[in-house]
Amino acid sequence: MPTAAKTIEADIRKLREEVLRHEELYYVHDRPEISDVEYDALVERLRALEEEHPEFRTPDSPTLRVGGRPAEGFAEYVHRRPVLSLDNSYNIEDLRAFDERCRRLADGRSFEYVAELKIDGLSLSVHYENGVFARGVTRGDGRVGEDVTQNVRTIRSVPLRLKGAAEGEAEVEVRGEAYLPRKAFERINAEREEADEAKFANPRNAAAGTIRQLDPKVVARRRLDLFAYDVLRGERKPFATHWEALEWLDSAGFTVNPRRAKCSDIEEVIEFCNEMEAKRDGLEYEIDGVVVKVNSTALQDEFGATAKSPRWAIAYKYPARQATTQVESIVVQVGRTGALTPVANLTPVQLAGTVVSRATLHNVDEIRRLRIKIGDWVNIEKSGEIIPKVLSVVKSRRTGEEKTYHFPKRCPECKGLISRPEGEVVSRCVAADCPAQLKARLLHFASRRAMRVEGLGDALAEQFVQKKMVRDVADLYALKLEELAGLERMAEKSASNLLAQIEASKGRDLPQLVYGLGIRHVGERTAALLARHFRSLERLAAATVEEMDDIHEIGLTVAESVRDWFDDEGNVNLCGRLREFGVRTELASGASGATDEAFAGKQFVLTGRLEALTRDEARAAIEARGGRVTSTVSKKTDYVVAGEEAGSKLDKARALGLKIIDEEGLRALLG
Ligand code: IVH
Repeated sequence: MPTAAKTIEADIRKLREEVLRHEELYYVHDRPEISDVEYDALVERLRALEEEHPEFRTPDSPTLRVGGRPAEGFAEYVHRRPVLSLDNSYNIEDLRAFDERCRRLADGRSFEYVAELKIDGLSLSVHYENGVFARGVTRGDGRVGEDVTQNVRTIRSVPLRLKGAAEGEAEVEVRGEAYLPRKAFERINAEREEADEAKFANPRNAAAGTIRQLDPKVVARRRLDLFAYDVLRGERKPFATHWEALEWLDSAGFTVNPRRAKCSDIEEVIEFCNEMEAKRDGLEYEIDGVVVKVNSTALQDEFGATAKSPRWAIAYKYPARQATTQVESIVVQVGRTGALTPVANLTPVQLAGTVVSRATLHNVDEIRRLRIKIGDWVNIEKSGEIIPKVLSVVKSRRTGEEKTYHFPKRCPECKGLISRPEGEVVSRCVAADCPAQLKARLLHFASRRAMRVEGLGDALAEQFVQKKMVRDVADLYALKLEELAGLERMAEKSASNLLAQIEASKGRDLPQLVYGLGIRHVGERTAALLARHFRSLERLAAATVEEMDDIHEIGLTVAESVRDWFDDEGNVNLCGRLREFGVRTELASGASGATDEAFAGKQFVLTGRLEALTRDEARAAIEARGGRVTSTVSKKTDYVVAGEEAGSKLDKARALGLKIIDEEGLRALLG
């Protein structure tokens, strides 16, 4: 064999083994080391190479079969009809290409799509004999699964007897996705942490780990749930459309995800995908995309399937939120209250649409828990707006070259002493003159949600501190044009712009000022509550712990922290100087007490689509008046604001007899 061919054969073999290894980690051990996207890319590379060189494809190639293999411990069960998986698409063009293929196959006949959420769990097949629950089977490799009947029986959303017309059916197979709601996942991990057991990386791993628990009692406690998405009678699909199948499942007693849509063309599908992506973070469970299916079962049969997946369905995957990368170094950041936060510098990796090169390690305890070393491969996660965090270390990828990390004994910036009070997780630099703390305080004071001094960024704050031009936030108001113009990369024009910005910040309202002071435990919301209650900085400064503690939603910790801050002579001085410089220290008159009454301490839930306001705007408006926006409807909810196509939250609000208002009502309330 010529050398070139030999190398290709070796490449294919290596790649094949790599894919098999990751499959085993994923399917058998529930311990994936790489993200789904990375895995798909590996398989794609293998498939492409094999297609170019079919002579090197072996019968055990993972491209020829559906998935992994069952582990020991449960009886095997051969699926009557293989459990296929879906082709993935990662962008809108892929979806359009899928649509074109379907339209070609339909050859002029019109048809509909059904779009459903792709729940991030594991697929289960649930069998009924004469209407009675008979068996629960995992997907396994798609042909042979594991009999996990005892465990499936513990899932409350799996009816033990089919309801209504379904009762008399001889043999019914229902397929669906078992998953752990976020709440259950968090509870399980909290318990595991307490018991010093390794935490699950995500709800999917936790669900997969749970279904393969040998003790059904443990399973029962974990509260798995199931969304049903398909039904077979014997080997056949018993309905003319998928939509009808979903409705039948609902009537038979299963939970069918209410967030689904019948779409007359691919544009409607795309709309659904975008809408759900925006809602993703607010759902009670994790999703990784949308599944799009041709509605007509006759067309489904006609389109058929490849060895791996049906031609009538596709998964549209949202950008992954987890990835694997390497720790290049660990640094410690000093916050405005002196809090020391370890941060991992990472080899940059693409994640959820951005490049991630840093992730928080939270605190010393977390470093110990992870046992993280410099050079380690780590799984990281990014969700919503939150800073990416390190989930776990991939110990199997250690080479021995990794370096142990030691948390510093002194502040890395000013070499000041570090203290960690009993019972607290955070270590702090306690030096009063730590330049890193001052810099962080300046940046916080100038930030958008505080006094909003545009143009005051990291580089400038650094220079102010280094050159001792600023010793506290009040000094900003004493800065002169000549001083500023002398700084690096500061032309006269930008210097005067900055001065104008600083001047403008004097007129910000009291909530922004109180927040900007950077008092420990006083976030944006607490600052607004305090400002609205006391209406001036002077009155807040004079407030007793009891007075503050009496405010609804303000607790003792916050009250004591605020009192401590105003008891500090330096801070008293600072407040006096801010006032002298002309910074507003009274609440602006526009916010009348009357409007606040309707909102203060009230809980709002926003659901459905709003027309005139975005969700964020509505939330901000409610919070600015002292209200609170939460994502779950409960007895404690005061108002449910229902927009267009409000779903299960509205149903729940009705069931609980809560006050429901529409967007119009909200606007009236907001005045
Ligand atoms: S339909 C042939 N619908 O995604 C049709 N799957 O690779 C196959 N999944 O194995 C499945 N939510 O575990 C379908 N609404 C949904 C789903 C869903 C999650 C999972 C399922 C499947 C994988 C696709």
